[in-house]
Amino acid sequence: MGIKIKICIGTPCHLMGSQNLIEAVQEFNKKIETDIEVEAVNCLDKCKGAPAVKIDDEVYAPARPKDLIDLIKEQLR
Ligand code: FES
Repeated sequence: MGIKIKICIGTPCHLMGSQNLIEAVQEFNKKIETDIEVEAVNCLDKCKGAPAVKIDDEVYAPARPKDLIDLIKEQLR
């Protein structure tokens, strides 16, 4: 089953490193060839906890690259 990830690239999230999250997922995707759908979005209503990420229906904020990859690994189990 594929995983849908939305990574916020709105200004607060961008300033707090959302690009690092995008790169981490892309790297991970390349390494294990998963079926992860990544979409950049403009706001997930968690600006105070930037950077924000939504995996399926759950929003995580702040999201750090390592935590994001751990969450993805958990979902893939
Ligand atoms: S700008 Fe990223 S959650 Fe609002």
